[in-house]
Amino acid sequence: MIDQFTTRPILNSRGEWTIEVTLRSGELTAIASVPQGESRGAYEAVSVSADQAVKNILEIIAPVMVGQKLGDQNSLDNKLKESDGTATKERLGGNALLVVSMVYARLSARAENLPLWQYLRHLSTTPSVKDAQHSVSPRLLSLMIEGGLHAPGASPFQEYLVLPRTTTIIESVNIVTKLYSALRQLISDRFGPGATHLGDEGAFAPLIADPLAPMSLIMEAARVAGLDDKFDLGLDAAADNVFLSPEELNTFYDQARANYPLCYLEDPFKENELDNFASLLAKSNKELMIAGDDLTVTNVERIKLAQAKGSINAMIIKPNQIGTVTETLEAVKLAREYGWKVIVSHRGQETNDDFIADLAWGIGADGIKLGAPARGERVAKYNRLLEIEATQV
Ligand code: PGA
Ligand code: ZN
Repeated sequence: MIDQFTTRPILNSRGEWTIEVTLRSGELTAIASVPQGESRGAYEAVSVSADQAVKNILEIIAPVMVGQKLGDQNSLDNKLKESDGTATKERLGGNALLVVSMVYARLSARAENLPLWQYLRHLSTTPSVKDAQHSVSPRLLSLMIEGGLHAPGASPFQEYLVLPRTTTIIESVNIVTKLYSALRQLISDRFGPGATHLGDEGAFAPLIADPLAPMSLIMEAARVAGLDDKFDLGLDAAADNVFLSPEELNTFYDQARANYPLCYLEDPFKENELDNFASLLAKSNKELMIAGDDLTVTNVERIKLAQAKGSINAMIIKPNQIGTVTETLEAVKLAREYGWKVIVSHRGQETNDDFIADLAWGIGADGIKLGAPARGERVAKYNRLLEIEATQV
């Protein structure tokens, strides 16, 4: 039973306020905090200010929580949704609800003496995942070069990612850290040491306008490091913030696919351009993952719409786009029913909370997108993935 509940504002990785909650039950304690998005989708749950979230949690949510038993995630999340009562979580804030839902999951796992990923797996409604003792490691999507809203002035596209061609996290981390280091050297040699500054998610953000140049830099660094056949490339265009027409975007994607080993394309068009997504998917081979992020916002209504239009074959999962753990799992279940790949993701403004690493293992995610293997709030997730993998049999 929950007997103590505290909350306070803490800083996120961009020097802005977010919220942390501590929950106690007898001797057990759990802490959780929530990230925020910089390039948010229009259909995401509403996020309120940290001060407002603390007030809402203390005055409205805490009285409902104290005295609740642990381990019933579904009914807890339903209570949270009912206390808010709006479709967009605008009354209490998706951030206020999610931090409570996450800390409750973590304390419940502790009460059941389970690692968090196993607790989440038991909640998972996909039978093949639920019954598995362990799972294949999620594939890493690691950020090497960033631009867009995360590094204004650099590339117009937000994220140039690498996806190691290997089956374990440890081997993947070895590949991405070697590549990251080779890329730092290459950028320094080519543009001067001052050009190796980092964007919001820890990746390099050289001021080069040619949107294909980051891909060639990554491949050049890979050749130097002897890694050029060890990964595929991914791109999160975050197209809602890119000022190119759909025709220009299509031309760019064609060029990128013709010249680079591109296997992943996220938000290639704006969130309301479902038909443009669909045409791209229709003409692509099955190996190319076309993922919705701002398009789908971890929301079953948006997911159904994307399926009806035939827009995507992969989807980003961000719990704070929807606001509770249970609704996150419902979104995963639906995406799986549609046969889509599921990729758990961090956000632009992170905390050191590593919940998403457990979530990725728990749901047997196909991938996890974490930012660069640098900066504490990103490294926390890498390290938790490594820790979970080390415990697998
Ligand atoms: P955000 O962007 O977390 O800053 O919204 C990340 C993404 O678009 O994947
Ligand atoms: Zn995205």
